Amino acid sequence: MKSYFIITFGCQMNEHDSEVLAGMLEAIGYTPADSIDAATIVLLNTCCVRETAENKVFSLLGRLRRQKLENPDLIIGVCGCMPQQENMAAHITHLFSHVDLIFGTHNAHQLPELLNRVANSKKTVQEIWTGARGIYEGHPVKRKDGVRAWVTITYGCNNFCTYCIVPFVRGRERSRKQEDITSEVAGLVAEGYKEIVLLGQNVNSYGKDLACNHDFASLLQCLEGINGLERIRYMTSHPRDFNDKLISTIAGLRKVCEHFHLPVQAGSNRILKKMNRGYTREHYLGLIKKIRSNVPQSNITTDIMVGFPGENGNDFSDTMDLVRQARFDSAYTFIYNTRPGTPAADMEEQVPEAVKKDRIQALIRLQNEISLEKNIEEIGRCQDVLVEGESKKKPGFLHGRNRGNKIVLFPSDRDLRGEIVRVRITECQMAHLSGQIVETLK
Ligand code: SAH
Ligand code: SF4
Ligand code: F3S
Repeated sequence: MKSYFIITFGCQMNEHDSEVLAGMLEAIGYTPADSIDAATIVLLNTCCVRETAENKVFSLLGRLRRQKLENPDLIIGVCGCMPQQENMAAHITHLFSHVDLIFGTHNAHQLPELLNRVANSKKTVQEIWTGARGIYEGHPVKRKDGVRAWVTITYGCNNFCTYCIVPFVRGRERSRKQEDITSEVAGLVAEGYKEIVLLGQNVNSYGKDLACNHDFASLLQCLEGINGLERIRYMTSHPRDFNDKLISTIAGLRKVCEHFHLPVQAGSNRILKKMNRGYTREHYLGLIKKIRSNVPQSNITTDIMVGFPGENGNDFSDTMDLVRQARFDSAYTFIYNTRPGTPAADMEEQVPEAVKKDRIQALIRLQNEISLEKNIEEIGRCQDVLVEGESKKKPGFLHGRNRGNKIVLFPSDRDLRGEIVRVRITECQMAHLSGQIVETLK
């Protein structure tokens, strides 16, 4: 019996790549294993956006050494973003000789062929293209969730924010054809999915590399027309490319949810410039204002980084001030981490770790207060919740998401998975809302 276990690190894009890897493995006769120990192949789909992500992979590879000794037939593979970095594959094979296969982000479609090579080779099989050679369509995909499905619309990134490794490991931006995306979504709806999440490092630049004049707004309009599809989400947006046409398109489309994830990264114009983000704090705050006036009750979330090289006390105050003004519903906060090969790695004035820690703690405290206040504002409102299943946190409760993407819990003993119900919000915590069901809509 051939069985697989995939461990995924990093962003949704990587999570979705793992669904494609699983689909390919199942197509050649593998079944999902219940645990690492039970698998005949273990794949680590890696992330290198911060060092912490890489360290997790190294420690897992260390632990797998024993499993390989006990079971020499076990196949251990490393794929995803880490191997795309220069010399990383050599580093991995040097430290972990029990790894059988290493392949990059541009080589995932070759997995079945690579496994044949592993079967006939005593050495680690490596296949890492430095750039993409086209888009591969039509792979079998094994999705986990039955309510929400991820659909890639663009691969790669052209932005080269100076701190970021992603453009180096994912290659240049490539858009899938609108027809390919719409037919995939129509197929998912036929399978019973209610919500799709369109994925790309910068979804707003969708279509720029296509010969036709399709753009992100036209893609949303096209998907809105698919019968049976209830909700459309997308991530990630770039504040520089989120234009008025897109705001008014989104405001006019019922299925596109009122959730805007707009990574700001920093609140100081000086730092934003050094990051090569292509916008100012004034532009960003103006954008949020426009979104809130065109799309009432929208949920606005962000990514923020502290400790970028050269960030001084005033720059950090600008970030805190922007957070107070923007009043994000929630934020992912990060300590800047040097990524070898990126322009920021060579910048002077790297911020001491202790300063970075103080800043992130202050930022998290502030954002937590705001997140709770924003959730308190939701109490008393009736919201449409797409039910995902039973709550693991609270027995007897179901959980789902409102249109803004916040998690909502409510008591029910009915099987409402995949249904949209109206819930009146009665309580909240920082990370979720709770309420009582008012009516079942679908
Ligand atoms: N394409 C998306 C996501 C990129 S990675 C975007 O443009 O927002 C997700 C987040 O990781 C980024 O938004 C950024 O806040 C953070 N990040 C990227 N590189 C980092 C680094 N070197 N150190 C710390 N955080 C980083
Ligand atoms: Fe990285 Fe910037 Fe591209 Fe996002 S937009 S993936 S932060 S380079
Ligand atoms: Fe990480 Fe690669 Fe995503 S570096 S954040 S898994 S694109």
